[in-house]
Amino acid sequence: MKIKSLKLVYFSPTGTTKAIIQGVARGISHGAVELIDITKANARKQQLQTLENELLIVAVPVYMGRVPALLNEWLHTIKAHNTPAVCIAVYGNREYDDALLELKDTLIECGCIPIAGAAYIGEHSFSTPEMPIAEARPDASDLNHAELFGRKINEKLLSISSLDQSYDIKIPGNYPYGGITKVWSVDFIAINNNCTQCGICSEVCPVDAIDSKNSNSIDNEKCITCCACIKNCPQNARTIKDSPVKDVAIRLNKLYKERKEPVFFF
Ligand SMILES: Cc1cc2nc3c(=O)[nH]c(=O)nc-3n(C[C@H](O)[C@H](O)[C@H](O)COP(=O)(O)O)c2cc1C
Ligand code: SF4
Ligand code: SF4
Repeated sequence: MKIKSLKLVYFSPTGTTKAIIQGVARGISHGAVELIDITKANARKQQLQTLENELLIVAVPVYMGRVPALLNEWLHTIKAHNTPAVCIAVYGNREYDDALLELKDTLIECGCIPIAGAAYIGEHSFSTPEMPIAEARPDASDLNHAELFGRKINEKLLSISSLDQSYDIKIPGNYPYGGITKVWSVDFIAINNNCTQCGICSEVCPVDAIDSKNSNSIDNEKCITCCACIKNCPQNARTIKDSPVKDVAIRLNKLYKERKEPVFFF
């Protein structure tokens, strides 16, 4: 099967999902690549259409064992017509639970035909230097794996003459999906005096929860605890204060020290 172009869709508040999808794209090595970054709220206002001769790759982080709930509305507006698709879940070394299966099912509902799926490990959003969880992942080995996955996708496409709705790949997961989709409304960010009100935290926030003129003003009802504002602050002025988020970080740091490895499915 010959592909005319490659569309890469990703949501990546702290950059690990983006690093993985870029690694996969390097392995596929196609000339015509369109990057569709749906991290910012504004980008999720634009609908996506794809065709039979395009390859769509969608990568999301795992939030509480599921596809981040705030993406569901946008993902369901994708208009595809027998578009070959690849689903990727990136998780923080705990588990990806039913997230990859959920993403595959969503893509099918939109008219895609999933041809492959993969789960990768990224530094946990709640990881800090004092409380590391999958620190600095994806690393070189993960990115090599992502490139290999890209090459395998190429091989797969070459081996298929055409796709129809009966095509299926086996992705682990359960019905009904487990995990939690309710957004966690929690006051967990401390801001110290090093803040220069540069506005970067407000710019990187995927749900516009931070006042652009006052970085101390956070709408906890909107916040999805993604930690993009903390990890992108050039002054290291934002930290995780004593809160349920810190309690979870302490638990994850203790329980998930053992390195997990990426997997792919065809
Ligand atoms: C609200 C929330 C829930 C999360 N739930 C899980 C989870 O269930 N399992 C897991 O291993 N990692 C979980 N993570 C960690 C992220 O999946 C992981 O850090 C991912 O690499 C973040 O992607 P990004 O760098 O593209 O933002 C969670 C992170 C957040 C913010
Ligand atoms: S990114 Fe850091 S320094 Fe800049 S406004 Fe936000 S908290 Fe302040
Ligand atoms: S305010 Fe909340 S949602 Fe916005 S970047 Fe910070 S942690 Fe993420």
